[in-house]
Amino acid sequence: MELRVLGLRPAASALLVTLFFLSAARPPVFSASPPRYSPDWASLDARPLPGWFDAAKVGIFVHWGVFAVPAWGSEWFWWHWQGEHRPDFDQFVRSRFPPGTTYADFASRFSARDFQPHEWATLFQEAGARYVVLTSKHHEGFTNWGSPVSWNWNSVDTGPHRDLVGELGAALRERNIHYGLYHSLFEWFNPLYLADKKAGFKSQYFVLGKTLPELYELVTRYKPDIIWSDGEWEAPDTYWNSTSFLAWLYNDSPVKDTVVVNDRWGINCSCHHGGFYNCQDKYKPGTLPTHKWEMCSSIDRRSWGYRSNMKTDELMDTSSIIQELVSTVSYGGNYLLNVGPTKEGVIAPVFQERLLALGRWLKINGEAIYESKPWRVQRENGTARTWYTSKGAAVYAIFFTWPEDNVLILPSPDFTASMKVTMLGVSRSLEWHAVPGRGLEVTLPSTVPSLLPLQYAWTLKLVGVK
Ligand SMILES: *[C@@H]1O[C@H](CO)[C@@H](O)[C@H](O)[C@H]1NC(C)=O
Ligand SMILES: *[C@@H]1O[C@H](CO)[C@@H](O)[C@H](O)[C@H]1NC(C)=O
Ligand SMILES: *[C@@H]1O[C@H](CO)[C@@H](O)[C@H](O)[C@H]1NC(C)=O
Repeated sequence: MELRVLGLRPAASALLVTLFFLSAARPPVFSASPPRYSPDWASLDARPLPGWFDAAKVGIFVHWGVFAVPAWGSEWFWWHWQGEHRPDFDQFVRSRFPPGTTYADFASRFSARDFQPHEWATLFQEAGARYVVLTSKHHEGFTNWGSPVSWNWNSVDTGPHRDLVGELGAALRERNIHYGLYHSLFEWFNPLYLADKKAGFKSQYFVLGKTLPELYELVTRYKPDIIWSDGEWEAPDTYWNSTSFLAWLYNDSPVKDTVVVNDRWGINCSCHHGGFYNCQDKYKPGTLPTHKWEMCSSIDRRSWGYRSNMKTDELMDTSSIIQELVSTVSYGGNYLLNVGPTKEGVIAPVFQERLLALGRWLKINGEAIYESKPWRVQRENGTARTWYTSKGAAVYAIFFTWPEDNVLILPSPDFTASMKVTMLGVSRSLEWHAVPGRGLEVTLPSTVPSLLPLQYAWTLKLVGVK
């Protein structure tokens, strides 16, 4: 936050915030049962991931904040403008906003006046999402709920004058969609953070006065199913008090049995510690990972936050979205697909169209996705580009190229004589033959693909594979 937001001079603000909130940073007490997890990674990493997360597979990520007001560049607008002092950002502000405009001034234009949480929830449900993750606070520090440690840099005291975190959560829960909260540990310009940074992260004014009170409040007030942590990379987990927060979360918090977290809890944690692994953004492993992971991706390839000047060729098309989803799930990951709403709270029709197309595909093919497990083989490089998943006695082969002669070859499955092959969305069984040295030859429904209920990718269900 800028000092203008706090309405205080630098030294005074740092001191006051510190004195006032040191006392607030205390873990709320909920349970007296003996702690199962101790505040170290060996113990925390041994916690089994609550099963709902792996079963869910598909989530929607929502990046929303004051950055939706300039809606230009990306959600890193403030940093590019006043951290890096990029002339194009300076020029942008001077050409579009009154002289002397600060980033804090944008907040009053973050209106959310068209934000209909129930419409969003319906859209996400139709997209096939089993969970949604909202930015409760991005690196700009603006909280989308009325955080008492945010001064007025929050959505209740300024801008929307609404509890965005609470409203979306209530609408999602009515539809049984799990609710996750993204939370940035650091804030680019928070004076307390900058003071700690200057002290080589030997002091913890910011963590004790801001980060931890926020995290404790988010958990006790909104009972999230996921804490999606970010902004960890400048400081070690010991500075963030991450292990002690997570021990509280797993032992004593109101969501101790259901909550999952990611891996961004301090330098070198990502891909090594925490709950599921995100590793870097848009992570794509080349082989089957041994640890539960999630791939986050964005329909707008260039930004997570809304940009008013997106171009069509900068967006993911439906086919790429479905390919990313399928390859991710085949490799045991969850797929978290991002949209950035406008400052009014509109999810642009082009994003809606992509989400609804994904949902239509999942309506037929979701059987191969939700609750699935990786199979012995994850991908085949044949002409059809086939990916596999499995569930119980079924193996699913999802292919992206319809063979010209209508015959799909699957080299990997070891068949049995009684094996049944069907295509999801098509009622009758398909004929198949074993061809020595080639594998299974499956005769696909003899119709032009455009007459099938779906495009983009098709799923064969094989029951009775050895
Ligand atoms: C921060 O971590 C220390 C050491 O693990 C612990 O004693 C303290 O209670 C933690 N503070 C908060 C607010 O969680
Ligand atoms: C992070 O890992 C790198 C490479 O393994 C190492 O050089 C560095 O010291 C580590 N940093 C911290 C804070 O542990
Ligand atoms: C398929 O092709 C990719 C890229 O050419 C290669 O990295 C991968 O190892 C191949 N996989 C198999 C199963 O042949």
